[in-house]
Amino acid sequence: MLDSRLSAVADLVRSGTRFADVGTDHAYLPAFLLMGGKIEYAVCSDLRKGPLKNAEETVKKYGVADKVNLRLSDGLDAYSDGEVNEIAIAGMGGLLISEFIERTTWLKNTDIHLILQPMTHAEDLRKTLYENGFYIEKEVAVKDGDKLYIILSVYYSGIAETRTVPECVIGEIYKNSDPDSKEYLKALLKKYSIKYEMLKNAGKDYNESELVVKELEKWLK
Ligand SMILES: C[S@@+](CC[C@H](N)C(=O)[O-])C[C@H]1O[C@@H](n2cnc3c(N)ncnc32)[C@H](O)[C@@H]1O
Repeated sequence: MLDSRLSAVADLVRSGTRFADVGTDHAYLPAFLLMGGKIEYAVCSDLRKGPLKNAEETVKKYGVADKVNLRLSDGLDAYSDGEVNEIAIAGMGGLLISEFIERTTWLKNTDIHLILQPMTHAEDLRKTLYENGFYIEKEVAVKDGDKLYIILSVYYSGIAETRTVPECVIGEIYKNSDPDSKEYLKALLKKYSIKYEMLKNAGKDYNESELVVKELEKWLK
């Protein structure tokens, strides 16, 4: 029922939590979790009515509609504090996810677990998280077809930090030794090596890209 990307997100969900799927679209993730009994209740929200209609069809098809609350919501705007404590935000850009986190002040709660799967700008998302007192407990890289995805498991610590550019680009993935994580680091090395060469050749400041490349080379030795 789930592809390997959403399966990896599902694996990170804590059992028995009050779960929210933000930007749910087809609601495959909550339907899977409800059917397997990992959670007993889910709020499935989306910005638009069309995706919520998809979600409604899925939860009816799999017989879990009575355990789901379908809701129109821009990010977490239509949620209230204390309602959920396990939140997945998958398949959206890292900048958009960063905006949700910055404006949803009740997320600053040590009981809340965020499972974030940015499609782009993971480095900006990490920067936002670190600067707002969240810590990344771990990251998972997962391959689906020929695409590589990154998933962040995040809690609030209250310790706001300014991290370096290499730290924001690499995150916690260097701690993993599985093939998908290694491939993720190699893809980053390729991207930042090209960026470094281009900046250097154009006579622009290449210091940050060079630092990222050096750090990645260290972890890929
Ligand atoms: C690519 S789908 C991802 C669906 C599912 N979460 C997944 O990972 O497979 C992105 C969904 O996010 C929704 N979305 C986009 N902007 C949003 C926002 N500001 N607030 C809530 N949902 C949003 C879209 O309507 C769409 O249904």
